[in-house]
Amino acid sequence: MAAEDYKPGLEGVPVAKSSISYVNGQEGILEYRGIPIDALARQSNFVETSYLLIWGKLPSAAELAEFENEICSHRRIKYRIKDMMKCFPETGHPMDALQASAAALGLFYSRRALTDPTYIWEAVTRLLAKIPTMAAAFQLMRKGNDPVLPRDDLGYAANFLYMLTEKEPDPLSARVLDVCLILHAEHTINASTFSAMVTASTLTDPYAVIASAVGTLAGPLHGGANEDVMLMLAEIGTIDQVRPYVEKCVAEKKKIVGFGHRVYKVKDPRAILLQELAVELFAKFGHDKYFDIAVELEKVVEEYYGQKGIYPNVDFYSGLVYRKLGIPDDLFTPVFAIARVAGWLAHWREQLDENRIFRPTQIYTGEHGLAYKSIDQR
Ligand code: COA
Repeated sequence: MAAEDYKPGLEGVPVAKSSISYVNGQEGILEYRGIPIDALARQSNFVETSYLLIWGKLPSAAELAEFENEICSHRRIKYRIKDMMKCFPETGHPMDALQASAAALGLFYSRRALTDPTYIWEAVTRLLAKIPTMAAAFQLMRKGNDPVLPRDDLGYAANFLYMLTEKEPDPLSARVLDVCLILHAEHTINASTFSAMVTASTLTDPYAVIASAVGTLAGPLHGGANEDVMLMLAEIGTIDQVRPYVEKCVAEKKKIVGFGHRVYKVKDPRAILLQELAVELFAKFGHDKYFDIAVELEKVVEEYYGQKGIYPNVDFYSGLVYRKLGIPDDLFTPVFAIARVAGWLAHWREQLDENRIFRPTQIYTGEHGLAYKSIDQR
């Protein structure tokens, strides 16, 4: 293996054949199972989109009803999980709480053959059902409150907002969150998905697969840029400070958060949809001055960097939307995780269909045949 074969970050190295999603970064296209994201965002809902991603086709009405019912009936978490979560420090990050709770789920549902379709179905529906409950439970428990029980009469996104805020959300908020979940559900092979695939390739249980993916998503280079966007907008403070801020970043060669993407060289299609959702929310629930700053920032950054293909990515407008929905800043990444569980599960299933354990190689740069020195000689 020659050193020039080494691609840091595996850039451009195919690691799988996949029919789950497709990105065309030049034209700003994202498709799930061949269906453009725009159509799914406008016409589908998160549970149906999850079915599409995981089972590979849009469900019939009966299939969708069965999937929805199954997810709904598994929303509650066992009291032992809640007791375990109560012991988590309230200062801990919600992503760490989510990773630990996802892993703990595996303790309760004994491992069965990965060729058993019932086991796969149960794991898929349980994980989709319980991850939001656990994220919301930690939010209430860290404030010293008991978690509220999920409500079977509410849809997936509405129930999550209810569990988080203890108030039944209005239909627009629920719909906006549902669309956000669709937009974040899947995005080809990124770090957390690859992590899920590597873990899956050992044929371990699906709870371990999701726990490892949650841990990978938690890193600041992956999830979490939307939190930084909110900090940046606060730092800029007013519209007239946008241009000086961009000029300073250009002069100091500092990257502007929420812009640029390894694959997209035009505005991320998800950012276009999220901007629309922000406008809808602000029209109903009151304006946010940070939105005006964001719009101005997009304009000025395009002047400087448009030719280089640097445009808003998915994280640019999502924080503004989440804040308006009453989601605390450090829950932005857990919300991303709730959505991405669908994509991770889809890749888990696809991995199992043609599994070979991941075992890449390395370019050894160390020495050989050294003598062992006893401790007094070192
Ligand atoms: N602001 C200004 N310049 C940027 C930029 C940004 N946000 N993102 C990339 N660039 C510039 C780089 O400086 C580099 O310029 P150069 O060729 O003159 O050196 C060029 O574009 C390529 O950048 P690079 O970092 O190699 O791209 P990448 O594909 O490795 O990185 C990101 C992609 C997303 C990590 C990167 O765009 C970034 O750090 N963005 C800000 C953080 C962010 O929003 N992350 C969330 C991603 S969804």
